[in-house]
Amino acid sequence: MSTITIKADRISQVHISDGEWDLALEKALDGRARAAIIVSETIASHINFEIESDTDIHIFTIPDGEEGKSSRTLLKLWDWLGAAGFTRSDLIVGIGGGATTDIAGFAAATWLRGIDWVAVPTSVAGMVDAAIGGKTGMNSDYGKNLIGSFHSPIHVIVDTSWLTTLSDRDFAAGLAEVIKCGFIADKKILDLVEGKELSQIRNDNDLVTQLITAAINVKASVVSADFKESFHREVLNYGHTLAHAIEIDSKYSLRHGEAVSIGMVFAAELSHTHASLSKEIVDQHRRILNNLNLPISYEAQAWTRLLPLLSLDKKARGRTIRFVLLEALEKTGRLDSPGERELSAIYERVSK
Ligand code: GLY
Repeated sequence: MSTITIKADRISQVHISDGEWDLALEKALDGRARAAIIVSETIASHINFEIESDTDIHIFTIPDGEEGKSSRTLLKLWDWLGAAGFTRSDLIVGIGGGATTDIAGFAAATWLRGIDWVAVPTSVAGMVDAAIGGKTGMNSDYGKNLIGSFHSPIHVIVDTSWLTTLSDRDFAAGLAEVIKCGFIADKKILDLVEGKELSQIRNDNDLVTQLITAAINVKASVVSADFKESFHREVLNYGHTLAHAIEIDSKYSLRHGEAVSIGMVFAAELSHTHASLSKEIVDQHRRILNNLNLPISYEAQAWTRLLPLLSLDKKARGRTIRFVLLEALEKTGRLDSPGERELSAIYERVSK
């Protein structure tokens, strides 16, 4: 087991293992009178909770995916915590994909104005992104993640044995965030995946562990430097400006990572025009993402619908639409409010 420490609003320890998540959880429960384990339905069907602990454990099962991140679920969680008499020294544990750890963290952030919590992410996207960095939240009827709070878990238990529960599609979608970390901050990640297909990566647990560890290290270092996203943390948004618009336009039929994959190719093309990013690196985006069966283009006729959605992006400031650019491998820049005609011309390069 290896450990990465993130110093932000509190010390957050990320433990990375293969098949030892229950031991790590038992340690995290030590000394707690009560713990609420919030688990998604699918993951609940994969585990029998044989946790050896003196802690009084309450298991709350919530719907999978985005329904688990709704105000309905949060109201239920608050009621359950109230009925079970949860106090400030008790613990919340979220086990599941990003939606589950996000809502578990938000319940922890809001219960008694903030109690400790532990994230046990079970998807690649959860392990390298959602559970790392202290963003917790839920969806509003007006959009995803519009309500939330910064509240880091005290432990993140990352265990690659969960990854067998994922479809190839979800596994690949999570890898898109890993690849993003490669382009913005750690080109070793790109060397590790170059020339490999999805199945080769999935079947090599050492490689998967190396990739996940490297991506967590990138995020940990960014978040430790700028926890509340005053500026530097925005680099994690590489590829996300167009991706958020595509997710909405596709009515969320595309996974977040799939939309990020298309968004990164768009951002790379924009960077080629605006930040002298070489054509080789733009091509490298397409090659690596395509090898992982990730989409790298989107419908041509969608542009008129996507453009107004770009300014709804959460990271937009006032009327400014901000793109994170890549000037070279591991070197990011920014571009505020490029002209519509230019954006449209770049979009043609990623449309089909
Ligand atoms: N997912 C981007 C961030 O945590 O800032």
